[in-house]
Amino acid sequence: MTTLAAAPVAIQTRDLTRRYGATLALDRLNLTVNRGDLFGFIGSNGAGKTTTLRILSTFLTPSSGTAEVLGHDIVQGADAVRRVIGYMPDFFGVYKDMEVEEYLDFFGACYRIPAAQRAKVIDDVLELVGLTEKKGALIGALSRGMQQRLGLARVLVHDPQLLLLDEPASGLDPRARIEVMEILRELRRLGKTIIISSHILSELETICNRVCIIEKGRLIYTGPVQGVRAQMSPGAVFWVRVGSGLAEAVKLLQACPEVAEVTPVEQQLKVTLAGASGDPSLIAETLVRGGAKLLELREDEMTLEEVFLRVTRGETQ
Ligand SMILES: Nc1ncnc2c1ncn2[C@@H]1O[C@H](COP(=O)(O)OP(=O)(O)OP(=O)(O)O)[C@@H](O)[C@H]1O
Ligand SMILES: [Mg+2]
Repeated sequence: MTTLAAAPVAIQTRDLTRRYGATLALDRLNLTVNRGDLFGFIGSNGAGKTTTLRILSTFLTPSSGTAEVLGHDIVQGADAVRRVIGYMPDFFGVYKDMEVEEYLDFFGACYRIPAAQRAKVIDDVLELVGLTEKKGALIGALSRGMQQRLGLARVLVHDPQLLLLDEPASGLDPRARIEVMEILRELRRLGKTIIISSHILSELETICNRVCIIEKGRLIYTGPVQGVRAQMSPGAVFWVRVGSGLAEAVKLLQACPEVAEVTPVEQQLKVTLAGASGDPSLIAETLVRGGAKLLELREDEMTLEEVFLRVTRGETQ
């Protein structure tokens, strides 16, 4: 008997499209998520994040296109998909009058986990999300951050391989956000594949290994998180300070074909090189060879958030 290694791809969508009446919410989305990824799904309000996650978790059918989740087609193999995923919707009803343990036991029963095993499973997931001490508490008495963590515990009860989390950190204070992110890191260490959506790119920058950015239902970037800045910014921007002769320095730089733009800002020059990965030594060489005195040369630290805003500016619905 031959044993096939697990396919590296966890999710593959092909031209996934969804319309709501006249609204095109998803427009031929081609997305690949690999097993073991902690994948950031980023887009502003109305970009199509929830629509995509609902389709991948089989709650919604696509208008056209296909998707496979862990090798199962989301339409033909919907039952199989549901067994291997944990989907945490953006808004989930909390059963305020239930106790934490009762709530998890209920979902354990829904997933047909034998009663004898459920107590251990509940203890394990509560420990993972740091709610062990709240086992007997009423859900209505938990803070929002704790309720979100309980939501995570709920999707872990049946030990799914893939988690689809729709903005699990939204509405949380910074500390509670960090706690959620820590749990996600731990889950990844345990071998889970995770997709997490957010409209805040910088929130996901530190924990995700790969991200995609969608806007108006269209994919505008997918790849490693480090690649976002290089691919999204139209050029590399540097700041230059020269000893004297600002106007001379501007002329020298403008004569250089690799320099796309030079703008004096107060006593400094903002220099944009053509191409995102421009070499700043070119700026130094041009100035020094032209007789200018170079005092400082540094890269513009445009944050990922600024890059994101620039890319999506004016395109949010
Ligand atoms: N049930 C629906 N009926 C009609 N239009 C819908 C429905 N659900 C979503 N839409 C539209 O589809 C588009 C994508 O919405 P979606 O909820 O997927 O975006 P999102 O990225 O999750 O946004 P948010 O950040 O606000 O949660 C939007 O234009 C939205 O108005
Ligand atoms: Mg949404």
